[in-house]
Amino acid sequence: MATRFGVIGAGVIGKLRAESIRSTRGIELVAVADPVIAAAEQAVRGSGAKPLAEWRELVALTGLDAVVISSPVHLHEEQALACFQAGAHVLCEKPLSNSLDSCRRILAAAEKAGKTLAVGFNHRYFPAVALLKKTIDDGTIGVVDHLRIFGGHDGLHNFRADWMYKSPLSGGGAMMDVGIHLTDLARYAAGEIAEVYGVATNNIWHVDGSEDNAVAVFKTVTGIPITYQVTWAEWRGYGFFIDAYGDRGMIRASYAPMSNILVTQDKPGAPRRRRRWWYPEIMVREKMKGWTSTTLLTFQAELGDFRKMIRGESGSLADGFSGLRAIEIADAVYRSTKTGAAIKLDPPGRPTR
Ligand SMILES: NC(=O)c1ccc[n+]([C@@H]2O[C@H](COP(=O)([O-])OP(=O)(O)OC[C@H]3O[C@@H](n4cnc5c(N)ncnc54)[C@H](O)[C@@H]3O)[C@@H](O)[C@H]2O)c1
Repeated sequence: MATRFGVIGAGVIGKLRAESIRSTRGIELVAVADPVIAAAEQAVRGSGAKPLAEWRELVALTGLDAVVISSPVHLHEEQALACFQAGAHVLCEKPLSNSLDSCRRILAAAEKAGKTLAVGFNHRYFPAVALLKKTIDDGTIGVVDHLRIFGGHDGLHNFRADWMYKSPLSGGGAMMDVGIHLTDLARYAAGEIAEVYGVATNNIWHVDGSEDNAVAVFKTVTGIPITYQVTWAEWRGYGFFIDAYGDRGMIRASYAPMSNILVTQDKPGAPRRRRRWWYPEIMVREKMKGWTSTTLLTFQAELGDFRKMIRGESGSLADGFSGLRAIEIADAVYRSTKTGAAIKLDPPGRPTR
């Protein structure tokens, strides 16, 4: 029987989420809710699914198996809790919520209801990131020594609404926006983060509580150092890269455009071999159909792994704990900025404070 899905929030991301469900076999889109009813109508057009103006009506529908939450961040908790109470699994857009305590309440509600909670860290599914992860895991670059991570865009004009960047709603600035994918990718690529030192500043856009720049060092439980920088002042506009260095080479994953560089050597100091991936099919498709065409493919892949996760199988999809941990790392940068000290995170599975 098809898994019956609802979608809450039918903005840019919600419409893509609805499209990913409609285009995946074995899944049925039952309803989409958005107070802007025209948006919900657009998301369901031609599918037979119900457009609803009120998300509570969607949650109350009988026989709903799962809900994708793609509403503004400050609404995630209330909506996720209601979904779990109604017996539905939840795939929640990033960031999971706008505070640590709120994330913890969401995880506790999922556990109490015995339902699956997944978080939409879809960058894990970018081909360049998947290649970086595989290259680290299969030992091609040897023993991992350090990572260098950067991401950002050029500022506030990229935001369509206040909730996207004002801290009482968003929970913070660049780290809660583009940066939250990268805190997730840091631990996805290098392993669990144990310690964080960082400095967050807001001297460019001067939005209270919302950093426009953060520079940090993360240390994994195995001692791998990771430098991390996210910014809302990047002259080139949107982009990110992750460099992983080992004792036998390095690999870079970057976007946009999607690309990889792999440099290998038999031992430190030995001649280097270099390989590049440019993903021309992605470049051409994005030129014709835009970046959302790549996002759609990652959402389809996430859905496949979400159904696996519901069945208790593993995949690349981020779980609720990953959603919480990404916020714990960002929160540690905020705490480190205030205290000037490195912050130790508690081991996985336990609250950090
Ligand atoms: N995975 C990614 O790469 C990525 C990229 C951008 C945004 N996001 C996340 O996706 C979510 C949505 O972002 P977006 O860019 O689509 O924003 P958006 O502004 O385009 O869409 C938000 C939608 O939510 C609707 N909404 C407002 N109040 C609501 C309510 N009470 N119930 C239901 N819907 C409501 C709005 O009417 C709007 O249509 C956010 O959590 C955001 O952080 C993820």
